[in-house]
Amino acid sequence: QATETLGIVGGGTVGGGIVEILEKNRDLFTKMTGKEINVARLAVRDLGKARDFDTPATTVVSDNFEDILADGSIDTVVEVMGGTSLAKDVVIKSLKSGKNVVTANKALIADCLVEIENTVNEVNANRAEGEKPVEFRYEAAVCGGIPIISSLQGDFVGDEITMCTGIINGCTNYMLTEMDKNGLSYDESLQGASELGYAEADPTLDVGGFDARSKLKILMRLAFGIDVEEDEISCKGIPELTKEDFEYAAMLGGTIKLTGVAKKISDSDVAAFVSPTYLDNSDTLASISGATNAVEIQSKNLVRSTYTGQGAGRYPTANSCINDIIKVARGDINPLPFNSKGPGTLKFVNDFKSK
Ligand code: NAP
Ligand code: HSE
Repeated sequence: QATETLGIVGGGTVGGGIVEILEKNRDLFTKMTGKEINVARLAVRDLGKARDFDTPATTVVSDNFEDILADGSIDTVVEVMGGTSLAKDVVIKSLKSGKNVVTANKALIADCLVEIENTVNEVNANRAEGEKPVEFRYEAAVCGGIPIISSLQGDFVGDEITMCTGIINGCTNYMLTEMDKNGLSYDESLQGASELGYAEADPTLDVGGFDARSKLKILMRLAFGIDVEEDEISCKGIPELTKEDFEYAAMLGGTIKLTGVAKKISDSDVAAFVSPTYLDNSDTLASISGATNAVEIQSKNLVRSTYTGQGAGRYPTANSCINDIIKVARGDINPLPFNSKGPGTLKFVNDFKSK
């Protein structure tokens, strides 16, 4: 039996979900890929910590991720440790040593996607003839369980995207829903979001709009082929919103959502922002409530497509990583950023006056 040998860096919320789903579907995945998928190694920070999932008896657990990098039998590294500096090391070193990489790390992708793509290209350019190219996938990095990355990499190849609008932060959407529907104050709703595990360790990233901006930056790379510095994108969060703002919006027949928008405003220019915006109740995005995420793509051929689902949480996020792992094990072609007009044809402008 052929094998796909994994090393997982991180055994927390997402890592635990990946191990569980792999174990539960072992036979099915072998049938689907023609390979037995084994987690040979798992790296965590604290070996003494109790885990809320079972690790397979054959998996070697260590507190040193270098063990995974050094293990020549590992085909694919799954990086679910978070952070940017060590995680970047894990990803780059793994790719350079010829291992495939699957990651859920939004912060890393927002910071380093182009550098990682360049590494993938360099490594593959130097592969011997007939040698399998390395694969790099990051479906879980934007909107957790929603397959928005593969949709943008695949479904729009013959299309032209003109606008991408998203409710791409579950914590703030939960808060705004509570303020709107249940009359909670800002502080009460933030406390609820934190207790339910939606908030980042530093909730300023959520309420300030910065987490949504990281995700919008990644979506812009995929939808428009543009690599923009995050801090160039105008970003306004929700701390100034009050219950009264929702009453005013309701009087007008709508609500307020924290939206990330990237729009083609001319043949060459794309503008983008993250901000609370008024949405009429007839707008599909107005009905997205709680921690749910949604991304609406407007394009020439498909016109309007909306993707909605769970943007965070153990199983939705692990599900996306599993799909990546299966694609890598099957040897699906490595997708590149999509821009139907070719690389470098569109540029980012921080200007909304044109349209
Ligand atoms: P988490 O629960 O905090 O788990 C992180 C894991 O990494 C822990 O098991 C930790 O070990 C391990 N770790 C940290 N530093 C390490 C090191 N130096 N060496 C070895 N292991 C180390 O985080 P998570 O929620 O699973 O998130 C993982 C990644 O997925 C992040 O990039 C996050 O942004 C992304 N993501 C998460 C969600 C979500 O809903 N949770 C959604 C989308 C994307 P210990 O357990 O021993 O501390
Ligand atoms: N804090 C993030 C959110 C977690 O609320 O969307 C998933 O990226």
